[in-house]
Amino acid sequence: MSAAGDLILAIETSCDETAAAVIERGSVIRANVVASQVDLHRRFGGVVPEIASRRHLELSIPVVKEALERAGGAPADLAAVAVTSGPGLVGALLVGVSLAKSLAFGWGKPLVGVNHLEGHIYANFLTVDEDGRPIGDGRPPEFPFLCLVVSGGHSDLIYITGHGERRALGRTRDDAAGEAFDKVARAIGLGYPGGPLLDALAREGGDPHAIELPRAYLEPGSFDFSFSGLKTAVVHHLERAALAGQEVNRADLAASFSQAVADVLVDKTVAAARATGANRVILAGGVAANSALRLTMRERAGREGLTVHFPPLKLCTDNAAMIGSAGYFRYMAGGRSGLELNADPNLALGS
Ligand code: KG4
Ligand code: ZN
Repeated sequence: MSAAGDLILAIETSCDETAAAVIERGSVIRANVVASQVDLHRRFGGVVPEIASRRHLELSIPVVKEALERAGGAPADLAAVAVTSGPGLVGALLVGVSLAKSLAFGWGKPLVGVNHLEGHIYANFLTVDEDGRPIGDGRPPEFPFLCLVVSGGHSDLIYITGHGERRALGRTRDDAAGEAFDKVARAIGLGYPGGPLLDALAREGGDPHAIELPRAYLEPGSFDFSFSGLKTAVVHHLERAALAGQEVNRADLAASFSQAVADVLVDKTVAAARATGANRVILAGGVAANSALRLTMRERAGREGLTVHFPPLKLCTDNAAMIGSAGYFRYMAGGRSGLELNADPNLALGS
């Protein structure tokens, strides 16, 4: 493996993916292992926290072993062990944090606690995939940029001027974008995981302009979001159709809902980029995998003269590679966590 100082072992267990990765210089993926628990939670219609924790306990050590094997290295080669310490499900986080602490202590390596949302942002800094191929144009985004983080728990607009230098501009006032996708998917009768299933349904010929749905812009100049009204409008649409005995075109509804979310996210991101003078926009988080959002953002950025950057699909959703990248830059800036590091389900994205 490369010289110590370059390699980070990262562990991520904040929700329902047990993941470990080995990342070189914060950018080259040497190994990226994700064990999904989707099949386990599907029959419950969502993530069951207690089951997630138990499964992390079973999978985390094998997943770490596999990541090290794939990277072809020994623990001695590592510079540090990075781990997601929050936000997320507390029991799930605890499994990863405890394992990372034990490994760091046993191997005599520094420990670096990483904020999960910071990880999502740093997915954009991964430039070489596991097979040695460039990711996107093979370059990390240049500072400053405007970042839209949209996941199951967050919808944040953040202006980022350097590693660890950022200013929050807006956030959701009710549902996160991913949460809205999941709830609407359930209302339409799709299973879990809702967002990807709804996206797939929309792409089955759904017309994004077939059904008129509200878009909440809040007060002028606000960079905050609100998705609960939109979600309620979808539910009312379904209820009205049921009362009238009418068939609902579910693909049209899925596409119209996705477009309404994408329009608001893109409009606000572009407005925030204009307000800050940033000419680069990056997307992060599970909802950044949404096809309507990617398409709308790409088209709009083209017209506005903005450069847009987003991770490949598998790096948008939860993984440890992104934690390894964020952990590396934190480590290089002198960030170290003590063995008192604890899981924090509500960890805020500090500056
Ligand atoms: O970032 P992530 O994997 O986990 C969290 O940190 O929350 O995001 C998961 C969220 C879920 O709400 C999921 O439904 C949504 O991202 N999501 C999508 C898509 N893929 C994942 N939503 C819409 N379209 C997708 N293709
Ligand atoms: Zn996530």
